[in-house]
Amino acid sequence: MAVAHENGRRVIVAGLGKREELDPEKARVAAAVVASRAKELGSSSLSWDAPEGTGGALVEGTLLALYRFDRFKSDPDESPAGVASLEIAGDHADEAAVSAARVTAEAQNRARDLQNLPSNVATPIFLADRAAEIADAHESLELELLDGEAIAARGMGAFACVAQGSYAEPRLIVLRYDGGGGGPHLGFVGKAVTFDTGGISIKPAGKMHEMKFDMSGGAAVLESVAAIAELGLPVRITAVVPATENMPSGRSVKPGDIVTAMNGKTIEVNNTDAEGRLVLADALSYAVEQGAERIVDLATLTGAIIVALGSTYAGVFSNDDEWCAEVEAAMNGTGELGWRLPLHPEFLELTKGQYADLTNASAERKAMSSYAAEFLRQFVGEVPWVHLDIAGTAWGLGRPYVGKGASGFGVRLLVELARSSSTRWE
Ligand code: BES
Ligand code: MN
Ligand code: ZN
Repeated sequence: MAVAHENGRRVIVAGLGKREELDPEKARVAAAVVASRAKELGSSSLSWDAPEGTGGALVEGTLLALYRFDRFKSDPDESPAGVASLEIAGDHADEAAVSAARVTAEAQNRARDLQNLPSNVATPIFLADRAAEIADAHESLELELLDGEAIAARGMGAFACVAQGSYAEPRLIVLRYDGGGGGPHLGFVGKAVTFDTGGISIKPAGKMHEMKFDMSGGAAVLESVAAIAELGLPVRITAVVPATENMPSGRSVKPGDIVTAMNGKTIEVNNTDAEGRLVLADALSYAVEQGAERIVDLATLTGAIIVALGSTYAGVFSNDDEWCAEVEAAMNGTGELGWRLPLHPEFLELTKGQYADLTNASAERKAMSSYAAEFLRQFVGEVPWVHLDIAGTAWGLGRPYVGKGASGFGVRLLVELARSSSTRWE
């Protein structure tokens, strides 16, 4: 990268590598590097002479890189005010892509805000309020909220047992989007544990503060639906976000307790820190009951996925090769990468309980991410389903356009999935 002056304007020259090898991800990275440099130089407007087909990715890279979360700093940001306007020139054919990229990147940044907000602010009710705001902004959206009583009355004993230890009220947040179109009814499910202490099986103190991010899947689902509604994509979506804290207290669920999920299966809760699969079990059953025909869930579910795939790939698990291929295509196209890992009857066997149908955690520490996926699979029946374990990618991703903080991972891929699954059926 080089900086030169031309007629009083500053020109940043960024090498994008060989033209045949230029792809959207390289454009995102280049845009991020340039935007950060332009900000340092105090530039207030940026204009890209964009190579064909890169307009959308340049917008994403720029908007994501300029994201800041400083609302709790008394003295926000000593650095210059930042870039206020962005123009993509020389890529007129891409106007629709450029404006869709803006909508999507802004949604991703809002998801990062939800992630970054501390758990004393971003409570389950706060997330429900945000969902209500999203629903109010679009005719095509409808909101349903279940409170603690309604969750129990619906027979969601798995979700309810996680919530029972907290003073904060849980919510099952359901957003229904109808944009028409002839494609399948999609189900988006996102884990939103607004703080995961582990419960009675409490976590060590060291990194516990990071567990405010345990609602990252839910944040991505909520804000991607907002973007999809703003873009008016012709699909139907039921988004289900189980929101709760996971706390130890005198009324918490205890190791060995047995609960009954909405689908009638009984579960021994042998580790209260394996709470994600419990809240998702009932959320997935609910998505199926509501008529979802293709389901994708996003969840910061297992530490083991970080050991296996680092922050480079999300874990991908599926009961359906065709639906999985569609999700993987959306991931590859957006740079939100995933790597498929196996389900297997032997992993399923490990989920069988001693006293109940299932146990949420086995004593054998084998294939823990696949175990969790096999557990979830038992709540979707025969519906094509993809589970994305985003524990490694929701924060700490380290790509130049999102840095090491909250990444908003999943927003771009969900928007792309809605787009691709609608055009496939045109
Ligand atoms: N939210 C955690 C998973 C997690 C850990 C996400 C670290 C991001 C970073 C999840 O609820 C959890 O605690 N999982 C346990 C399951 C175990 C007790 C079977 C895990 O992976 O250790
Ligand atoms: Mn946990
Ligand atoms: Zn968790």
